Amino acid sequence: MIRIENLSKSYGPAQVLRDVTLDLPKGGVTSLIGPNGAGKSTLLSLIARLIAPDSGRITVDGMDIARTPGAELARRLAILRQENHLVARLTVRELGGFGRFPHSAGRLTQADHAAIDRALDYLDLQALADRFIDQLSGGQRQRAFVAMVLAQDTDYLLLDEPLNNLDMKHGQAMMRLLSRAAHDLGKSVLVVLHDINFASCHSDRIVAMRDGRIFASGTPAEIVAPDPLRDLYDMEIAVREIDGQRIALFYG
Ligand SMILES: Nc1ncnc2c1ncn2[C@@H]1O[C@H](COP(=O)(O)OP(=O)(O)OP(=O)(O)O)[C@@H](O)[C@H]1O
Ligand SMILES: [Mg+2]
Repeated sequence: MIRIENLSKSYGPAQVLRDVTLDLPKGGVTSLIGPNGAGKSTLLSLIARLIAPDSGRITVDGMDIARTPGAELARRLAILRQENHLVARLTVRELGGFGRFPHSAGRLTQADHAAIDRALDYLDLQALADRFIDQLSGGQRQRAFVAMVLAQDTDYLLLDEPLNNLDMKHGQAMMRLLSRAAHDLGKSVLVVLHDINFASCHSDRIVAMRDGRIFASGTPAEIVAPDPLRDLYDMEIAVREIDGQRIALFYG
């Protein structure tokens, strides 16, 4: 379980997280939604200890991350960041090898290669395995970064907008993959999404953020409803039940 207690974070005078308290139980898919600038990426970066809070505490399986050795944290928790700036010229397979670093410390074993292959298979990347990252399309590159995160083979997966640049088919495949990882492999997935309908159809729970606070959290049925969505996004959003799934309508 990830326990977040009274977490606050400011950038200069701007407070971007305000006293956030949240429990993320082990297992399942939790979608983190909310408007641009709500603090979603900041929260993920704090959980992964990429940045430090001003106050508050985060524990992962009872360990205070402020006092957990980096290598230990990296074996439990992997993060896909919203922006991935990579200068080095790496192939897709080499990028997967990066994900194994917490296990292998650079010297890849057979088990590491197997984990990389599994991740490349999952993300439909074997045909592109020897291609350089800067020779890929946007969606292919996004999948390569997700493969790196999966190859890390951690209990917790934090993914910041993994659907960026993906077409419908790969978007659906990504959500099914995350659902499988959670329900078949017992992983705990926290995923930032802007597509409410993917959140509605593939999450066990949804956490909504606004203005640096937890605005609401609950089941998809509780959150994907006209009232909470209107208050969250400041717009009218109709919701219909289609084939047993709650679908938000906001394209008109
Ligand atoms: N390094 C930084 N320096 C200053 N302000 C920052 C920094 N990073 C984020 N912010 C500000 O913090 C607030 C929260 O940003 P964050 O990236 O967490 O939002 P988000 O919910 O992920 O938004 P989006 O949906 O656009 O990705 C925003 O107002 C943003 O401008
Ligand atoms: Mg963000």
